[in-house]
Amino acid sequence: MKIAFIGVGGIAGNYRRSLKQLERPIAAVCDINVERAEAIATEENATAYTNHGEMLQQEKPDVVFVCIPPGAHTTQVAEAAESGAALFVAKPVAQNLETAQYASDAIAAAGIINQVGYMARYSDITVKTKELVSSRKLTMGIGRFLTRMGASHPWWGKYDVSRGQMVEQTTHVFDLIRYFLGDVNTVHAYGIKGVSDGIADFEECTVCNLKFESGAVGSITSTCVARAHDSFATELVGDDLYLKLTHDLGLRGQIGGEGIDYTGTEAGYFRQVEQFIKAVDANDQGLVLSAYADAVKSLAVTLAANRSLETGQVEQVAE
Ligand SMILES: NC(=O)c1ccc[n+]([C@@H]2O[C@H](COP(=O)([O-])OP(=O)(O)OC[C@H]3O[C@@H](n4cnc5c(N)ncnc54)[C@H](O)[C@@H]3O)[C@@H](O)[C@H]2O)c1
Repeated sequence: MKIAFIGVGGIAGNYRRSLKQLERPIAAVCDINVERAEAIATEENATAYTNHGEMLQQEKPDVVFVCIPPGAHTTQVAEAAESGAALFVAKPVAQNLETAQYASDAIAAAGIINQVGYMARYSDITVKTKELVSSRKLTMGIGRFLTRMGASHPWWGKYDVSRGQMVEQTTHVFDLIRYFLGDVNTVHAYGIKGVSDGIADFEECTVCNLKFESGAVGSITSTCVARAHDSFATELVGDDLYLKLTHDLGLRGQIGGEGIDYTGTEAGYFRQVEQFIKAVDANDQGLVLSAYADAVKSLAVTLAANRSLETGQVEQVAE
């Protein structure tokens, strides 16, 4: 299995560690930052490129990991799909739906294995929650992503590149809540800008209400200016059902008066890569829990939330 990377910054390091653990060597890396491309290529004993098209043509990889900022996405995913490579794409899949849909169509046409890095879907507390909820009806989802961003990612606080916290970061929570409650029809968001100097040029505190196709309701809160104890959490509600999944891998609550108290062992970072490699080995897209086409739906929800911040109105999620 010939593995290549497009973008070898922060998150690529995480995926590279998982591949090392799985004893899957990396053959080629591409980054527009030539020093970084060369340094990582040396570490991985791989070939360095600064142009992804050239890398795809020269190397003909079987698998491509795409790990670039949202605003850097153009046709990389589509071109890799057209080359026949299986794809693992870091979230969010793009910063607009046109780019994401173009890539999604190319993936469908090529029929290649595809996965997006929504690791929370692969954590054992999520798997356990799916088992516990089973066919029970969920009527409300509550989520939060509360953190203080540092200076390590200069592009992160720029709306032009990241499209804001809901699209770039809280997308994990939007996606996880969608995983449990299904498709979202409409959203309504409020936000506030200028809370802290130099962190972001977009709303640094947001709230977003959701109405699901099932009739369920939801609410997701985000900030990038305050560290919270319970930074990334999701709560699920149904008739006599309450479950809370927390960042420290806790799963607590009750179903029908029966207490649930479970602690997971892994946030899903390793398992998502392990599962992807299994899917590629078996050529079985059915093993993937976070397909590209589904990730496009999570992007559509967060982009609708951004539109709502601008208009102050309830916004329809694009089909
Ligand atoms: N938990 C997670 O799932 C998680 C965590 C962090 C980041 N991410 C996502 O991963 C993506 C990358 O984030 P990061 O933190 O690794 O950013 P980063 O800035 O650390 O790395 C991005 C790399 O991509 C390179 N790059 C940019 N445009 C390129 C292009 N056209 N071709 C080749 N290389 C290019 C940059 O030079 C840089 O080295 C983002 O979409 C981010 O949201 C996911």
